[in-house]
Amino acid sequence: MPKAIILSGGWGTRLRPLTCTIPKTLIPICNKPVIERQILLLKAAGVNEIVLAVSVMADVIKDYFKNGEKLGIKISYTDETFPAGTAGAIKLAESFLKDENFFMLNGDVILNFDFSKMLQFHDKSKAFGTIASKIVEDPSRYGVIIANQNTNKIEKFLEKEEYRPPPGGPVPMPINSGVYLLEPEVFSYIPSNKKVSIERDVFPRIAEEHEVYHYPIEGIWKDVGKPYDLLQGNISLMNDLIQNFNGVHKSLIDHSAQINPTSKIIPPCVIGEKTVIRQNCIIGPNAIIGDNVFIDNNTVLKNSVIYNETYISKHVEIEKAIISDNCVVGDNARLKGIEDKLILLSSHVKVMKDVEIINNFNNPFSVCHHEIVRESVK
Ligand code: GDD
Ligand code: MG
Repeated sequence: MPKAIILSGGWGTRLRPLTCTIPKTLIPICNKPVIERQILLLKAAGVNEIVLAVSVMADVIKDYFKNGEKLGIKISYTDETFPAGTAGAIKLAESFLKDENFFMLNGDVILNFDFSKMLQFHDKSKAFGTIASKIVEDPSRYGVIIANQNTNKIEKFLEKEEYRPPPGGPVPMPINSGVYLLEPEVFSYIPSNKKVSIERDVFPRIAEEHEVYHYPIEGIWKDVGKPYDLLQGNISLMNDLIQNFNGVHKSLIDHSAQINPTSKIIPPCVIGEKTVIRQNCIIGPNAIIGDNVFIDNNTVLKNSVIYNETYISKHVEIEKAIISDNCVVGDNARLKGIEDKLILLSSHVKVMKDVEIINNFNNPFSVCHHEIVRESVK
């Protein structure tokens, strides 16, 4: 069975300030870090050894997964002492991956698909590499794949800056989803001790010299690059997970959550372990609430994500917000994003009572960790 490597090293600058305290690949998606979800999908396909290519906040990631025992899978880590880039980072794991083909994943993509089907496709095509693809409406933010439409053999690989949309505007194209199955010979294309990019320096060359195919993935896929993607990715995954319950449950509510019967949960919602929702609240639709969150009386919350251990007081209104862990929102506060302009609170932020933040101007309106918001912003 192939092993896997997950790239977990980027700075996540576009997700700041959330990523000032949480490494991008540990950002929770429906209450589980994005790479934990990937690891569980790989495990379900039979993978039993994974290396995480860590650099930024490496210790936080190591401390979370340790040797993988809790997830029932063997996890080790690379030792990246310089900015290695996406190919340089896997070169550091060459001795671990050199014996057979291996999965390589960007650790910042939300997906829910069967990796074993991709492995069957790769084995059958005897390819040098298989790149999972997804058709998106506007491909210009991603690596674009130009392929033979009958065989799926990749003819050209164009990274963001090289792709020019046609004069009439973007058209849907298959893009690189950041999930690959590669033969170990790929390492001969990556020089040691150098910053090398797999998408810019390696894929265009191997696509020219070898058989590299793309494999369209089914189901949801989202790069968590920007805050609005993060909100949408949470909502898409929530809907996908709920569907897998065959419509029996309309929300995913942990059995240890305490919801006062006078409160209304409008599906779909996710509510985590030991979370308390007191009286006369209206929660949802699209409320994704972590573990040990406390929501006091008469609070209204929708289209938002709240991480663990946060306290929301009485008569609060929250919409289009991502609120990180250990925040406190005081009585009568209103936090409201308009359309795609979200409100982001990083860890340990305190919003004082009666404060109103209505964001129709910043994309997003962000508050750094440990700050106290004392005045309204409208
Ligand atoms: N260890 C390590 N070291 N990891 C890194 C490094 C590094 O120097 N640089 C980036 N990464 C990790 C990031 O954490 C992320 O998980 C992954 O590599 C991809 O980097 P991004 O910076 O998120 O790239 P992108 O989203 O702009 O573009 C890439 O992903 C798209 C799909 O999401 C490209 O591969 C595109 O072609 C692709 O479409
Ligand atoms: Mg990315």
